[in-house]
Amino acid sequence: MSGSFYITTAIDYANGAPHLGHAYEKVLADVLARHARMTGRKVHFLTGLDEHGQKVQQTAQQRGVSPQALVDEVAVGFKSMLVGLDISNDDYIRTTEPRHTKVVQDFLSRLYAEGLIFKDTKSGWYSVRQEQFLSDKDRDENGEWPEIYGEVTQTSEENYYFRISKFQSWLVDHIRSNPDFILPRFRQNQVLEFLKEPMNDLCISRPKSRLTWGVELPFDPGFVTYVWFDALTNYYSAVADKDLWPADLHVIGKDILSPPHAVYWPCMLKALGIEPPRRLLVHGWWTIDKKKASKSSGNATDSLAYVQSHGTDAFRYYLSREMVVGQDADFSDAGFNGRYKADLGNSLGNLVNRLLNMVGRNCSGTVPAAVADEDPERSVRALWTETRKAYDEAFAEHQVSRALEGLWTFINALNAYIETRAPWKLAKSADPADRARLDSCLAHVSEGLRLVGTALLPVMPGTARTMLEHIGQPVPADYSAFDWSAAGSGVKVAEKCILFPQVDTPPAPPA
Ligand code: ME8
Ligand code: MG
Repeated sequence: MSGSFYITTAIDYANGAPHLGHAYEKVLADVLARHARMTGRKVHFLTGLDEHGQKVQQTAQQRGVSPQALVDEVAVGFKSMLVGLDISNDDYIRTTEPRHTKVVQDFLSRLYAEGLIFKDTKSGWYSVRQEQFLSDKDRDENGEWPEIYGEVTQTSEENYYFRISKFQSWLVDHIRSNPDFILPRFRQNQVLEFLKEPMNDLCISRPKSRLTWGVELPFDPGFVTYVWFDALTNYYSAVADKDLWPADLHVIGKDILSPPHAVYWPCMLKALGIEPPRRLLVHGWWTIDKKKASKSSGNATDSLAYVQSHGTDAFRYYLSREMVVGQDADFSDAGFNGRYKADLGNSLGNLVNRLLNMVGRNCSGTVPAAVADEDPERSVRALWTETRKAYDEAFAEHQVSRALEGLWTFINALNAYIETRAPWKLAKSADPADRARLDSCLAHVSEGLRLVGTALLPVMPGTARTMLEHIGQPVPADYSAFDWSAAGSGVKVAEKCILFPQVDTPPAPPA
């Protein structure tokens, strides 16, 4: 595959510390970005920070600092999370940067000039937390405002509105005729459901009397831009000087699919005569010990401590393996430690060491050629052909956990193959046919691990590299050597390799 691949994540709210949900989304996008690079695509990977809006203004006020000082401090924390997670983003956009605010204002001016933005007075119920007016259909079955709206008060206010309703039928057609626009597909229904009702025009301003921390409207200095209009524009503003639009993939959580990403954003772009993004990949929510992971609870921040205690790649593996993209998943200490020991330590780490030991003991450290070729060898090779196919198919649908599941079936099959061949017995035999079987066994495990190491590069970049180096293999930049070959033989391997050390001090469990 060739061509460019422009991938983004949501830009995180700058009013709190990074937590598990933020970490997961960046890891998922990073795995997809690294995979795309290895397929030969020219990747541009963007992430960033959503720095305007009422919540940031409020948090800054509470802490007695300026909003800019607050977001500068928060940005340091988010950027260091990216470094800690080995995220390979090519750019980081902050919505307070001039390169961004300029484009927001340009978008607004264009829509205003086209008559697609108008001024109106509205009175009604207003949610401070969600920064939006509510209608009766937002009430729950008891007629109350759901908790997500926080404090709801009655206000009356002049504002600017975007005639988004003009684009409603276009959007419905667009979603219907592009079944891969929203993945996983079951998420489309929620959006089409939302679009069944006639849409209200979108309020895209906030009066400065209430909110000053935002991008000023280019046609009325008494107002700033609604934070979602501002934030969504980041995907475009960050590449305004590059030839990358439309974005190939926006990776987002399920809470911000509808209406922001599936409705506001494509309609904004349509109104501006700009192509919509090609695809939205919608992941589910992490809970921690079955409780919702959130900024306020603190539990979600604690889970990031596993990066320090067990390593970046173990953490990346756990998140990638445990969450089926699109579904919710639960993070638990038992779950993490279980996978660390079983999948990483016992299945993979031990397998590498078994190979290094056997090659050291029987072949002076150089992997022999495969000569004997019997049923066990044939089935290992056949399984690789299947595994590779399933890996490619899983990645085509961005289903990383499925790719890993298949890979671990193969890793476990390599372990079982060693048991079948029992090289320690073959080594004692005087029969030359057994020597040939021994050599073939080592060659097959070596080649199998070369392929596993290649497959793991997007998910565990550091560990996969270390593993490949220890088994005497170059670190590939792409998938051009991803089929079974003789490359596993004739190489000098290391004596031993500790990929997943036993950890004595796991992080303190969340209070
Ligand atoms: O929504 N599990 O920012 P945010 C999985 N600034 N994902 C989670 C999660 C959890 N427990 N908690 C949050 C915003 N996320 C806006 C986005 S984009 C133009 C503006 C995900 O900091 C969430 O779904 O609240 C979102 O995709 C991302 O983290 C940032 O959330
Ligand atoms: Mg949120």
